[in-house]
Amino acid sequence: MSIALSVNLNKIALIRNSREGNYPDLIEHAKACISHGANGITVHPRPDQRHVRPGDVLQLAELLKPLPEIEFNVEGNPFAAQRGDYPGLTSLAEAALPDQCTLVPDTDHQLTSDHGFDLTKTADKLLPVIEKLKSLKIRVSLFMDPIPEQIELAKQLGADRIELYTGPYAAAWNNDPDTVENLYQQHRRAALLASELGLGVNAGHDLNLGNLPMFSTIPGLKEVSIGHALIVDAITLGLAETVKAYKAILEVAATTRDGR
Ligand code: PXP
Repeated sequence: MSIALSVNLNKIALIRNSREGNYPDLIEHAKACISHGANGITVHPRPDQRHVRPGDVLQLAELLKPLPEIEFNVEGNPFAAQRGDYPGLTSLAEAALPDQCTLVPDTDHQLTSDHGFDLTKTADKLLPVIEKLKSLKIRVSLFMDPIPEQIELAKQLGADRIELYTGPYAAAWNNDPDTVENLYQQHRRAALLASELGLGVNAGHDLNLGNLPMFSTIPGLKEVSIGHALIVDAITLGLAETVKAYKAILEVAATTRDGR
């Protein structure tokens, strides 16, 4: 089974938003990622609109509508406040109708997501959001730490997939080689449990060309969403070579991982 690469374009929007005008052009970068082999596009709108803005989400939806093989993933906190012309994640999803919404428990001013849901606390609030998105035929993925009890709760809530938060694995890969194998095994057990329960498994955060080869051998992994490192790599390698390099890792992993 292949592993999809969804390119998170938030960093392209961040650079664009640092000046007036539309440079770099988000839509052109989405097209380039797709033409070089990306299987999907991810965006993470936030109320402060420092990354992609609601209009970007709608434009990307238009671009991707005639391309059913390319997945559009909109991630974010469904409880983040509406602000200015940011309508909130659920309303934006209702307007854009992405293939997948990844729900994330980040706060408004957080630099980036840094933990999964604690569903013992948020299940009641999340349930109507999940039901609403599913009624719109949007696949729902929940951003989760690799904790078995939490993954069981994700299933009970009706999620279709989980996205494993890979930040700690990636940090250990950089600084703490002794714990990498443990974290890998923790994610592997979480992924196996999710698959047993019938949940699809995505993963993301701080994945890069160094740490992806090991992580992508996780059984059943369907999709990785990668932004920061991929856009940084594109500065030196170029976008075409970068997307191809990430895809090549995923292709090797998909053909070899069942033997691990
Ligand atoms: N998954 C989620 C839920 C995220 O919030 C992010 C960052 O926007 C990513 C994946 C991608 O992380 P990175 O930019 O470190 O590749």
